[in-house]
Amino acid sequence: MTQPVYGNLYQFSEMSGRMNMPVHQYLLAADPAIMFSTGTSSQAEWILPQIEAILGGRPLKYLFISHMESDECGGYRIFQKKYPKLVIITSPFTARELAGFGYRGKVVTGDENRPLTDGQLSLRFFIYPSEVHLQNGILVMDRGSGVFYSSDLFARDTSDGRVRDGRWEDILHNIDTALMPDERKRQALMKDLETADPGFVASGHGVCVRCLRGRNGRK
Ligand SMILES: [Fe+2]
Ligand SMILES: [Fe+2]
Repeated sequence: MTQPVYGNLYQFSEMSGRMNMPVHQYLLAADPAIMFSTGTSSQAEWILPQIEAILGGRPLKYLFISHMESDECGGYRIFQKKYPKLVIITSPFTARELAGFGYRGKVVTGDENRPLTDGQLSLRFFIYPSEVHLQNGILVMDRGSGVFYSSDLFARDTSDGRVRDGRWEDILHNIDTALMPDERKRQALMKDLETADPGFVASGHGVCVRCLRGRNGRK
C-alpha cells in the first residue's frame, strides 16, 4: 500500500519507460478527496484499487488535470468509469479537448481569478503555458493542506529521491525553461507563484520538496 508523503497526501509512482523518468500522481485524501493527475491508462489501472482502499469507500470527487498529456490524464476514462460523478478540473483548452474526445462527465475550468472552495479544499489556480500550440494549462495550490501540485514545472529534476527539504524561493528558480520557452509567460508565472507559499511541492516528475519555514526558509 502506498504511504502518505505529506499529511494525507498519497503519492503513486512509476518509472515510465517511454518518458525515461519517474511519473507521479497524488491522492489528497481530504473531504472531499481530489486526485492530481491520473497517470497513463496503465498506471490508472493499478492506482484505482489503492485509491479505493485509502478512501475506505468514500468517493473521489475531483480530478485535477494540468494539461492534455498522457501522463497527466491518460487514465481519465478509467477514473470516470470507477467514479461516474467525478468532476474534472482543468484548463479551458483541455476542457475543449475532452469534449472533442467525447467525454460527457462534469468538467470545471480552473480560473486564476476564481478559487474553488469545497469542504476542506481551498484551490487556487495558476496559468501554466504547457498545452500544445503554446496554449495555457493550469497548476493548483490547495490552501487547506498546503500542497502545491507542480506537474512538469520542475521536470528536469528527475532524481529518484522522494522528498527533500527546500526553500520555496529556491525551488522557483528550478523551473524547467526547456519546457517553457516563452520568457514573458515564465516570468509572469514566477511572479504569481511567489505568493503561493506552499508547505509541500508535489512534483509530477522527480523529487518532491517539503518547504522550510523560519529564518532560512519562508517568513
Ligand atoms: Fe506534460
Ligand atoms: Fe508530465
